[in-house]
Amino acid sequence: CERQDFRASKQRLLVVANRLPVSALRRGKDSWQLEISVGGLVSALLGVKEFETRWIGWAGVNVPDEIGKEALTKALAEKRCIPVFLDEEIVHQYYNGYCNNILWPLFHYLGLPQEDRLATTRSFQSQFDAYKKANQMFADVVNEHYEEGDVVWCHDYHLMFLPKCLKERNSKMKVGWFLHTPFPSSEIHRTLPSRSELLRSVLAADLVGFHTYDYARHFVSACTRILGLEGTPEGVEDQGKLTRVAAFPIGIDSDRFIRALELPQVQDHMKELKERFAGRKVMLGVDRLDMIKGIPQKILAFEKFLEENPDWRDKVVLLQIAVPTRTDVPEYQKLTSQVHEIVGRINGRFGTLTAVPIHHLDRSLDFHALCALYAVTDVALVTSLRDGMNLVSYEFVACQASKKGVLILSEFAGAAQSLGAGAILINPWNVTEVASSIGYALNMPADEREKRHHHNFIHVTTHTSQEWAATFVSELNDTIVEAQLRTRQ
Ligand code: G6P
Repeated sequence: CERQDFRASKQRLLVVANRLPVSALRRGKDSWQLEISVGGLVSALLGVKEFETRWIGWAGVNVPDEIGKEALTKALAEKRCIPVFLDEEIVHQYYNGYCNNILWPLFHYLGLPQEDRLATTRSFQSQFDAYKKANQMFADVVNEHYEEGDVVWCHDYHLMFLPKCLKERNSKMKVGWFLHTPFPSSEIHRTLPSRSELLRSVLAADLVGFHTYDYARHFVSACTRILGLEGTPEGVEDQGKLTRVAAFPIGIDSDRFIRALELPQVQDHMKELKERFAGRKVMLGVDRLDMIKGIPQKILAFEKFLEENPDWRDKVVLLQIAVPTRTDVPEYQKLTSQVHEIVGRINGRFGTLTAVPIHHLDRSLDFHALCALYAVTDVALVTSLRDGMNLVSYEFVACQASKKGVLILSEFAGAAQSLGAGAILINPWNVTEVASSIGYALNMPADEREKRHHHNFIHVTTHTSQEWAATFVSELNDTIVEAQLRTRQ
């Protein structure tokens, strides 16, 4: 009865993420142009129908003046978004520094950048202070907009300090936190100077979610080994307070991709691509240009395949879409040059006057062009060195209903746990293995391709992003209800 009352009225869901699902471009003193990005999280939340959603996050731009801030806040309000304004120095220390130069590589088992190791060690404290300060700023905005009965869902490694900040401001707030990256083994996590503070802060949430059971297990082990707390099948217990910890594997809005394939503009794109690459098999990589994606490893494996299989040299092409990201972080700048150098060398080595084996693009494609590309692909290559889930593999599968192409998938992507039976799993560090998997995939008989595809297609179309979000939010609500009932007893 308690539960029903809770669900009867339309609750508000405050989604707090580092970035808003909107990019803002300043057009004048008090005018802004907004562009909505229909990312995974946005479509996921369309599934949470019983809640009214508000977004809170950084607008991604520096707005030093009050007129600009006021105008942007007003424009964003129409999109149900609420901005957190971070100045350049905070962004540098919090986002480029602590989030993307420390937590991101560490959570993906890459350690600190080699040359920067000492420098990072020295600047660690100031970056962590900025991280906490930024999280406090997010908490202030959440607090300002919070109304009794709202549910607050915090996202990702940028906001690990947020659950604690929110609970300190209002202990009755319902707070969930979800990590979109892997959570590393406790042996890796314990190298972080701020290891305990971060864990304790996350534990302030009522529900903590991860993409896979392994990440959840690593988190619980970190809490038991580093903090000395008790891990239970439900989560982590600290002096009678239980923080529920569980796996909630994300998915995609598969219908959106499947429907797009019927559109005339997508069909036109497909026709163009088929003509352009007629007589050649198409292999595809779609990644943010990030060191965790294993792009150099993928290209080197492709080189090895061409080296060992001269007959294939004019019969296959690798299209690599590498979307630039975090371009102010030196490690990302180095990666860009490294990838360009390798692609140039291989194209010089195996290219002819009329064709090159690798088409490398440093930019994103619009949604329709991307769907067309997925649909005409024979073999998709996902070589992440570590990846929370990797939704590119899901998107590819969703667009392959008629072609039934092959997915080569890193065993270090969360998706390997759900698409493992249909994909060819590889260790991206083993270039020889990846090269021979490329050969296997290109030569795979149709009946095997169909079977593998069928397995993955069923998974991708039944485990959608909408279902993911609805499950997390409903469990968050239930957790709180249980907690309230406990207090009442
Ligand atoms: C990963 C993170 C997200 C992040 C995205 C893009 O998927 O888990 O939280 O938004 O990368 O990175 P960016 O730094 O551009 O926001």
